[in-house]
Amino acid sequence: MQSPHSFPTSKQESTSLLEQYILGKLSLTSHSHLLIAMAVLALLMRCLLTISVLSCTAHAQLSPNFYGYSCPNLQSIVRSAMTQAVSNERRIGASLLRLFFHDCFVQGCDASILLDAGGEKSAGPNANSVRGFEVIDTIKANVEAACPGVVSCADILALAARDGTNLLGGSTWQVPLGRRDSTTASASLANANLPPPTASLGALVSLFARQGLSPRDMTALSGAHTIGQAQCSTFRDRIYGGDANIDAAFAAQRQQTCPRSGGDANLAPIDAQTPGGFDAAFFQNLVQRRGLFHSDQELFNGGSQDDLVRQYSANPALFNSDFVAAMIKMGNINPLTGAAGQIRRNCRVVNS
Ligand code: HEM
Repeated sequence: MQSPHSFPTSKQESTSLLEQYILGKLSLTSHSHLLIAMAVLALLMRCLLTISVLSCTAHAQLSPNFYGYSCPNLQSIVRSAMTQAVSNERRIGASLLRLFFHDCFVQGCDASILLDAGGEKSAGPNANSVRGFEVIDTIKANVEAACPGVVSCADILALAARDGTNLLGGSTWQVPLGRRDSTTASASLANANLPPPTASLGALVSLFARQGLSPRDMTALSGAHTIGQAQCSTFRDRIYGGDANIDAAFAAQRQQTCPRSGGDANLAPIDAQTPGGFDAAFFQNLVQRRGLFHSDQELFNGGSQDDLVRQYSANPALFNSDFVAAMIKMGNINPLTGAAGQIRRNCRVVNS
């Protein structure tokens, strides 16, 4: 039993002293009363410590149920706005997937790309290229009407990217939530971290490694190029002799709408086989040397990713499950949690 003169030092000691007190087995001198009070205090302190450790851990980790109580209809609000947006323009599903990627690679998934100020939006890889801001505005307005001041723009973007993928025929998955929004944006990090379509395999591997993503994650995520469109300026060099590893008939086909000079913004589907549907055709294109970007064809050009590209092209289920795993991993890049950042009221501006 606890020595009457010493403070209870362990949880077991405190608990057994309390049990004896409750069972009436302790003689209640004033000294005992003091000991009991100390035991209660010791237990309380341990509980408080446990609770604060638990809550810190919970903040550091995203969870699909983060808004289960605070905004129970969040998922259906995002889904119905995305369904509407995709029925207005199918490509927008692709644009939101890309917007999320461009958010996560710059300061982490913190909605920095949505800020009008700070220059990130107008940085080289984003200007006149990323799209979907108005859809995020609509979803945010609907979410604010249902649950004011609760849901971050960063989480709305993560959900919109998931729904965009799924509405175009891709998988669905549970999106871990609980990100908060940045108060800053970064043009210089956008220029430094986002891969250009001229990148070599080595450059791609190192830009993804910088974000904690493996070459396998990189190849799976590149499968997003099974949907959406690209401007002539991003693939012109490749189709006019810049690359040896290109199918001649494919190059000729792309030249029809992408002239040698002018027409920089003319659009072509990135996956010519099934442009509007999320599938593994992107990888079949690579095997046939029909990748649109130089960077995409680098994944199948006699290097380390050839084998994986072949596997994905033959096994769409493998691609889908790797894609989902990599999307969740990408969504975990440096989230702001706990008291960091803020919940922006308007995704375009920092709260005043
Ligand atoms: C691996 C390095 C990557 C490079 C070099 C790259 C480059 C590009 C380029 C140049 C475009 C066309 C932009 C334009 O013409 O305005 C584009 C479009 C697109 N990218 Fe990527 N990308 C990469 C990775 C990714 C990833 C990881 C995702 C998503 C997970 C993604 C999703 C998309 C989508 C969906 C589009 C079409 C967007 C639309 O139609 O609005 N890309 N990408």
